[in-house]
Amino acid sequence: MHGDIEKILIAEEVIGKRLDVIARKIHKDFFDENSLQVVAILKGALVFMADLLRRVPLELEIECLNVASYHGGIESSGQVDFLDRKLPDVSGRCVLLIDDILDTGRTLAAVSEKLREMGAREVKTCVLLTKDKERAAAVEVDYSAFEIADEFVVGYGLDFDGKYRNLPYVGVLNPSVISS
Ligand code: XMP
Repeated sequence: MHGDIEKILIAEEVIGKRLDVIARKIHKDFFDENSLQVVAILKGALVFMADLLRRVPLELEIECLNVASYHGGIESSGQVDFLDRKLPDVSGRCVLLIDDILDTGRTLAAVSEKLREMGAREVKTCVLLTKDKERAAAVEVDYSAFEIADEFVVGYGLDFDGKYRNLPYVGVLNPSVISS
């Protein structure tokens, strides 16, 4: 698995230190909030969310949303489908929406809008990675751990064809893996 990685972009220790900083900010910003609902987008946000929230000593609840915006491969489909039969009840809640990466922005834009439609009082967004590129959908990110170049990355929750999510770092795949 590690042999498929061309280069490590963000090492495990670097991620850990940055998460300490983001977690402190979230703790401070939501300190007075007594109805914090975290919503994580499956499956990419799982690893990031687990490591981040264990650093945030606040009372909160966690829900996960299954959306499809990437259908294998490395290209975004442009459409965001909500796959859960029942969506979490966020009515009147302050929501911290967590995703792995801000790429085209379509996923976060569509999910934030949906949560607002469902009556969320406030929606704040948090991503591990922000790609340096023009967005197809306008979206504001409140917490972003790292900015990266516009290249396809895997690890720390991010996959290629369902694999590499359990790598403890963010890395770039060997091009031969993508083309094979
Ligand atoms: P956007 O912002 O385009 O992001 O709606 C949709 C989803 O696409 C996935 N994504 C990636 N997954 N490496 C990945 O493994 C990448 O470089 C990458 N860029 C986007 C990700 O699941 C995101 O939530």
